[in-house]
Amino acid sequence: MEKKGAQRFKVLELLEHHGGLRPGVVERVSRETGVPAADVYGVATFYSLVARPDANVRVCQGLSCKLGGADDLLAKLAADGVPHEAVSCLGACDRPPVAIDAGLELATVGPPGGLSPDDPSLPMNLAGADDPSWPAFATARRLGTDAVLHQVDASGLQGRGGAGFPAAFKWKAVARHPSPTRYLVMNADEGEPGTFKDRALMVHRPHLVMEGLAIAAWAAGAAVAFIYIRGEFPDARRALERALGETTADLDWLDVRFVMGHGAYICGEETALLEAIEGRRGMPRLKPPYPTDQGLWGQPTLMNNVETLACVPSIVTRGAQWFRDQGRTGAGSKLYCVSGHVQRPGTYELPLGVTLDEVVQAAGGYVGTPKAFSPGGASAGFLAMAHRDTPLDFSSLVAVGSMLGSAGVVVLNDTVAMPDAVRWQQVFFEDESCGQCTPCRVGARMQRRAIDAYLEGDPKALQHVDDVHWEMDAGSICGLGMTASLPLQSAMKHFPEEFGG
Ligand SMILES: Cc1cc2nc3c(=O)[nH]c(=O)nc-3n(C[C@H](O)[C@H](O)[C@H](O)COP(=O)(O)O)c2cc1C
Ligand code: SF4
Repeated sequence: MEKKGAQRFKVLELLEHHGGLRPGVVERVSRETGVPAADVYGVATFYSLVARPDANVRVCQGLSCKLGGADDLLAKLAADGVPHEAVSCLGACDRPPVAIDAGLELATVGPPGGLSPDDPSLPMNLAGADDPSWPAFATARRLGTDAVLHQVDASGLQGRGGAGFPAAFKWKAVARHPSPTRYLVMNADEGEPGTFKDRALMVHRPHLVMEGLAIAAWAAGAAVAFIYIRGEFPDARRALERALGETTADLDWLDVRFVMGHGAYICGEETALLEAIEGRRGMPRLKPPYPTDQGLWGQPTLMNNVETLACVPSIVTRGAQWFRDQGRTGAGSKLYCVSGHVQRPGTYELPLGVTLDEVVQAAGGYVGTPKAFSPGGASAGFLAMAHRDTPLDFSSLVAVGSMLGSAGVVVLNDTVAMPDAVRWQQVFFEDESCGQCTPCRVGARMQRRAIDAYLEGDPKALQHVDDVHWEMDAGSICGLGMTASLPLQSAMKHFPEEFGG
């Protein structure tokens, strides 16, 4: 399968192995892979962990970390003369301010939020206890692929990676594809600011995650499964590898390969992720063709989020209807990541469709007087407390101009000025645009500059925000460019008094 790209797919691995973008490394990797040096250099500069290997400490700039003192930490590191770098979200928003050390291990002091409720007797799906014998996998093989595909369909499972796409649709498309070579990819690149549920799942329920992956690969007829996991999540990789070593299930038919990310948020987008596995810059592909038809190396590929796959064992053993019944306005339970101004930030499993107040109640209540919230990560923008009763599900939030996305719920209280919060999010999108669509690359910069100019006292700075958004939405090929204006636009809509309205 990798014949055509055999050397190319090693580019990132070798760049990392030789210490990142240092003198002589590009030429060496070029010699070792046969990929032209200019091309290797282009790949190396795209990925922050490779491009800037000398940062000792990396400090998260996500919204929750900003609220939790990231700027003070940066100032202290500068004063102490520690080589450091400010980076986009590090996926541990329950422990702000988050930093990682040179080995990419968490160097943060706060207690982990964990998966809650951590009680196996509760009828919930994901927050129970792990079983290394993988009983659902054995049941799935006994039932047969058609029965499993039918169950996943009947369960109403929607992808938990952001779009809420029906899982069965993709599973069936790959399973019924005529190509004999098919792949499964688990998307564990969790990078949306405010989101840390996949990390919690992999660390706390590695067997459940791997069991779901095995069922999906088997049902789709994939003999090779790639786990694309954030480079900043070495703890999650260790947990998954341990589970693979511990399980007593028969896995002789499945080749599981780990590919580590190298610090580019856009690689969470499914086609950018495929490019990254193949050893290129993580630039999204035009769709169609969709990965289910032409994915990795042009072969049908089933890609699912970590949480999506972790829902599968329960669907197989407890049944499609059981799963449906766990939800309120949509099927199943859902992991909500809660951070910002709440008492106990963490990952909470609740019925799909609970309200903000219910999620925050699970997290111990509000800190101070709540003013705004972001229901699904940076891409979801901001909502005012008037929307506190909107069900946090895939359709209700879209109806109010937002989205559930990856369910990274960040709460802001009345000590936060919305223009500041907006600026932090717009900086994120400007930094993380892959740059291939001009409207996204230029528009993200214009939106950030607009909020900067407004903060510096120009009252007219925001007058073109909607026009720029229109261009970005119409001219971008992936979801980043389409949603990148949302923090600014939504805050202007819901808090006009803070934007000169
Ligand atoms: C900019 C961008 C970033 C994304 N990041 C992630 C991510 O980190 N993890 C993820 O599972 N899906 C992410 N997605 C969604 C994926 O493209 C894809 O829809 C998902 O992996 C499919 O799995 P699911 O159907 O199980 O949700 C992202 C999408 C976009 C547009
Ligand atoms: S919309 Fe932005 S991030 Fe997405 S492909 Fe285009 S330039 Fe890249």
